[in-house]
Amino acid sequence: MVRAALLTAVGAPLELAEIELPAPGPGQVRVRLAAAGVCHSDLSLANGVLRAPAPVVLGHEGAGTVTAVGEGVTTVRPGDQVVLNWAPSCGSCHFCEISEPWLCERAADAYGQTYGTLADGTGVYPGLGVAAFAEETVVGERALLPLPDGVPLASAALLGCAVLTGYGAVHNAARVRAGESVVVYGLGGVGLAVLQAARIAGAGPIVAVDVSPEKEELARRHGATDFLLADDQTARAVRKLTDGYGADHAIECVGRASTIRAAWSATRRGGHTTVVGIGGKEDMVSFSALELFHFARTVSGCVYGNSDPARDIPVLAEHVRAGRLDLEALITDRIALADIPAAFERMAAGRGGRSLVVF
Ligand code: APR
Ligand code: ZN
Ligand code: ZN
Repeated sequence: MVRAALLTAVGAPLELAEIELPAPGPGQVRVRLAAAGVCHSDLSLANGVLRAPAPVVLGHEGAGTVTAVGEGVTTVRPGDQVVLNWAPSCGSCHFCEISEPWLCERAADAYGQTYGTLADGTGVYPGLGVAAFAEETVVGERALLPLPDGVPLASAALLGCAVLTGYGAVHNAARVRAGESVVVYGLGGVGLAVLQAARIAGAGPIVAVDVSPEKEELARRHGATDFLLADDQTARAVRKLTDGYGADHAIECVGRASTIRAAWSATRRGGHTTVVGIGGKEDMVSFSALELFHFARTVSGCVYGNSDPARDIPVLAEHVRAGRLDLEALITDRIALADIPAAFERMAAGRGGRSLVVF
């Protein structure tokens, strides 16, 4: 039996529960979690903005140690330290073949299959296939990435979502170049990782925008050169900071139509908006057909920062070792499994950076 934070139904508070995990089947691996980050996507799954089957163990940003492997597993052994990947690619579908593994058609295969049971025999689903809000989990072999040298295991959890996503949004999706201006909307774990990635790219100015004034200090520590409180004058303020033009790039890390639209409005003519935030199905973004022509701006979504984790995690690790990427700075709260609801509350109130469950 392992202890886990269980979501019994959308809208219900997370509760601690004991879960029975079967021995890993063919191709599966059991992992003892060292740490798990609390991401806004977990909150969105808990409150129903995003859909997941229930009961479910959320948590998709984790790192830990392999404790057992199933038949046919060749890439890891018990004792190996690993980072969990919530979008494991199959290597053979259309998207994998065209080298866009973040769009793998089988990445979500594990989401809809129960992976353990409650004491009464009810099947439990693994949130985003990972189920990191538990002492141990069982995942497919392809959902594991080796812990790179020089990265502490606990903070490596953040590589699995916020950092891979934020860094990838800047370097793979937006392809920010040195000297380009960047405006970042939403300064949670993802937005703060975006700021660090923009700093690594040599961007400038790097303008951070949030509704929460307490994010200013955090933002500056992560590389923001300027901070703006989000209001209806933000686009104008961004233009002032960019010689009157607007930013070359906007990166939206909130997940709302209104902030996507605001980010788009803050870019220059021909500027580019990269949407990282995940919003609701009914939340429509609009711009007029004429302004699309006049401003010649582009807007695009990205998944997992358009990252190939096997290729990109070693790059992130090199930045960590060289002191350019500061994972510790992203973690503002180290918490216990029982404290995830309080972390959700901090998140909803716009307080702090990443909360990290430490086991
Ligand atoms: N304008 C600007 N910032 C806003 C606004 C707004 N209208 N509304 C909320 N924010 C800020 C919050 O104050 C907070 O600082 O956005 C930030 C969101 O941070 P977190 O809740 O910590 O979310 P995070 O885990 O970083 O995820 C961000 O990326 O992966 C997706 O589903 C995830 O959509 C979410 C986004
Ligand atoms: Zn996430
Ligand atoms: Zn695939």
